[in-house]
Amino acid sequence: MGGGFRSGADRRAGARRRLGFGAMRLPGMPGRHPVDHTTAVAVARRAVELGVAHIDTAAFYTRGSSSANEILRRALRPYPDGLTVATKVGPGQDVRAAVEQNLGELGLDALDLVYVQAGRPGEALAERFARLAELRAKGLVRNLGVADVTRAQFDEARTVAPVSAVQNRFGVLDQSDASLVDECARAGVTYVAHSSLGGGRIRFTDDGLRRVALRHGATVYQVALAWGLARSPTLVQIPGTASLTHLEQNMAALRLELDDHDMATLERLA
Ligand SMILES: NC(=O)c1ccc[n+]([C@@H]2O[C@H](COP(=O)([O-])OP(=O)(O)OC[C@H]3O[C@@H](n4cnc5c(N)ncnc54)[C@H](OP(=O)(O)O)[C@@H]3O)[C@@H](O)[C@H]2O)c1
Repeated sequence: MGGGFRSGADRRAGARRRLGFGAMRLPGMPGRHPVDHTTAVAVARRAVELGVAHIDTAAFYTRGSSSANEILRRALRPYPDGLTVATKVGPGQDVRAAVEQNLGELGLDALDLVYVQAGRPGEALAERFARLAELRAKGLVRNLGVADVTRAQFDEARTVAPVSAVQNRFGVLDQSDASLVDECARAGVTYVAHSSLGGGRIRFTDDGLRRVALRHGATVYQVALAWGLARSPTLVQIPGTASLTHLEQNMAALRLELDDHDMATLERLA
């Protein structure tokens, strides 16, 4: 069994705060049906009603004139206490300009968590991360993160300033980042898994995942999310959806308890 696996009460501790929401799909995605503004606002509000305490966004999550940040602002401002709204500085973006754009669009005086997103593997992050740290010193950003990073880039950022969170691709069907998940758990750093439903491709999945889902009368999406909650105590997932029904199904994954046999089956998938 891989490191980071927990059992019993430990496995469930804090799970509610670790099932977040990804806002990228709220403005709609190229090649998919447009999402109407009223539905997008309703999905964001329902997420918080259902207990979501971590929402992931970016100023570049836009489609046409619709943007994830504007939808979140319309839906949630004034933002409830305890809600983390995390955003990003993309590869190529000026750090200060991106932070100011996010502050303006979200209608905030300070951002809870901002990631500097890596570009190509091996790209030096330190300088951009240092600029983000300066903005924290000015009170514009509360917590610093890095996204889409290698272990070496994570270590490099940590020499500049404390890293509160790492956001990388990780899920039951792609466990290639497992050692960084475990390192974050050891270091008490939040690991935010993006694309934990494989960007929706999890529906084409293998027999192991389907068998576990059938055994629990659950969907493969719920099993994937329950696996992530059990996999590491510092792992936050941010499943993306623009559907109220899917949101409600995903949040119901909090009630799904996987046993050791399920976890062993699922750990072998990736
Ligand atoms: N750092 C990065 O580079 C990076 C990259 C990608 C994403 N992200 C972040 O991660 C978040 C999640 O990424 P993602 O949305 O691409 O991937 P995801 O969460 O793995 O999958 C979302 C897809 O699954 C579908 N889905 C979700 N719940 C479902 C359910 N219960 N039943 C059926 N289908 C379901 C969604 O379609 P419907 O809308 O139809 O439900 C959508 O197509 C984004 O919102 C963004 O915040 C970060």
